[in-house]
Amino acid sequence: MKGAVFTNFQEMIEDEFGMECWEALLEKCDLPSGGIYTSASTYDDQEILSLVGALSEYSNTPVPSLVEAFGRYLYDGLANSLPPSMMTYPDLWSLLEAVDSVIHVEVNKLYPDALTPKIIVTEKHDNGVTLYYQSPRKMCLLAIGLVHKAAESFGTPVTIQHTCCMNEGADHCSLLVEYIE
Ligand code: HEM
Repeated sequence: MKGAVFTNFQEMIEDEFGMECWEALLEKCDLPSGGIYTSASTYDDQEILSLVGALSEYSNTPVPSLVEAFGRYLYDGLANSLPPSMMTYPDLWSLLEAVDSVIHVEVNKLYPDALTPKIIVTEKHDNGVTLYYQSPRKMCLLAIGLVHKAAESFGTPVTIQHTCCMNEGADHCSLLVEYIE
């Protein structure tokens, strides 16, 4: 996982739980990197899983809620790392269509070792879209948090129904994203 994900995670912990929480997590996890992250480097996926597990114990919050909350936090960090000219989408729906075909393509050019998921709009409805998500990381909850925050940034709050899920044995996830009237 790219260091940018870790640096944003550390920032979220320090903002929302304080520096002492970050230090407690590092002590608990005994990470190969020592918990020193730089955005362009790449770290073992297991490190983020260990950190989230330790945060779950520290904060007494279930892992899935933390992953989704982190997705919401991560959105601004990732979006602000791109040149502003690359984030000029008129609405949420055009941004969602661009994630796979433009945004993650740029990420992969910038970081050839990045592993971005497949996340595509497969159906358009009157009030939203169906997103198809597939990744060996099965981080669909992170995707849900990212989409919620992207939606908020356009002033278009949405509901997201997870109609099938890789973590329950399916070969992909389906996310039905609909705006709240
Ligand atoms: C609503 C918008 C977005 C969605 C739903 C989305 C979805 C995701 C998900 C779910 C992952 C986790 C990896 C996985 O599942 O395999 C990921 C990784 C990543 N995304 Fe996006 N993303 C969005 C926007 C962006 C933007 C705006 C950027 C701008 C730079 C970005 C850059 C990245 C990077 C750097 C990674 C880490 C790749 C790695 O660790 O190798 N994403 N994205």
